Amino acid sequence: EKGGYEHFMLKEIYEQPRSIRDSMRGRLRPNSDQVELGGIRDYIKKFVNAKRIIILGCGTSWHAGLVGEYLFEDIARIPVEVEYASEFRYRNPVIYEDDVVIAISQSGETADTLAAIELAKSKGATIIGICNVIGSSIPRATHAGSYTHAGPEIGVASTKAFTAQVTVLTLMALHVAHQKGSITNQRLHRLLIELDSIPDKVQKVLDQNEKIKYIAEIYKDVHNALYLGRGYNFPVALEGALKLKEISYIHAEGYPAAEMKHGPIALIDEEMPCFVIAPRAGAYDKIVSNIQEVKARKGKIIAIVTEGEKLIKEMADHTIEIPDTEECLMPLISVIPLQLLSYHIAVMRGCNVDQPRNLAKSVTVE
Ligand code: M6R
Repeated sequence: EKGGYEHFMLKEIYEQPRSIRDSMRGRLRPNSDQVELGGIRDYIKKFVNAKRIIILGCGTSWHAGLVGEYLFEDIARIPVEVEYASEFRYRNPVIYEDDVVIAISQSGETADTLAAIELAKSKGATIIGICNVIGSSIPRATHAGSYTHAGPEIGVASTKAFTAQVTVLTLMALHVAHQKGSITNQRLHRLLIELDSIPDKVQKVLDQNEKIKYIAEIYKDVHNALYLGRGYNFPVALEGALKLKEISYIHAEGYPAAEMKHGPIALIDEEMPCFVIAPRAGAYDKIVSNIQEVKARKGKIIAIVTEGEKLIKEMADHTIEIPDTEECLMPLISVIPLQLLSYHIAVMRGCNVDQPRNLAKSVTVE
């Protein structure tokens, strides 16, 4: 059932062009500049009138939620709070009846997320689910929602579920923005065309697997790693670090690159690899300065850059080139090399990639 792959995780990483496409199928209509999300049709007014969106999740789903925050604020102009379900549920949070709560969960069975939903529901908020497992507990507890169509995810480390969640959040933000009139037709058109090209671009990153494996070999024995990104790529830095820690047991931290000088920069020496997500789209000049700061302290830089990049190539120890896209769609592409890097490092260290120690696929207890 691993389809010829050595592990489920690798199979699931490679499935992403298809799982992203499946999550858009019937929903993305680039030729008519439309997004159709049947599951939330009856609740679109709630979204349009919402003064706030609260996004709930745990682990990787929480990281997808952070990307959702940037998307909804940037495109649909709605303030967003992203909450760890476990903190939210015990915090006596302020919840209004006109809040829209988006609960994200691959399994649909995460206990904390489910409890947080029940709390928000009891306060009268509208609950929208983004889940992968059809008929699981969370979709049953929500008012409405849109499934991710990633297919079964067996590897404990979430990969294709993350990109599917980000895909659905993107569609949702675009749909709401269109209904609200907070996006110009031109921008909507451009983003839909670009979104449609993402699966092919993801494939282009997968085609660089050999190079990524080569880099993994160089860094497989480190004890610590930093992941840095800005803007839309900050949640990707968190996700890259989580992937490395959960399957290879290497201590890793993700940071917004500009926060480095407020503490983590003290950790940098010639032993410390920094994985920097540094594509052209976004705060490029700023991230170039962050790379300089690391190099000045002899840290190692492995940079994820846009195809054809020159400047960062001269500064970095290694670069991985990814296709260019709109800034807000970049996480769908920039996360791929980080998934592959973690996978190869874990395999090289002899770790049980699909079933890491101490972890379960779905956390159905608190
Ligand atoms: O099924 P869920 O999306 O609700 O699961 C949430 C987390 O438990 C999950 O993302 C976990 O962090 C993964 N092991 C990450 O790879």
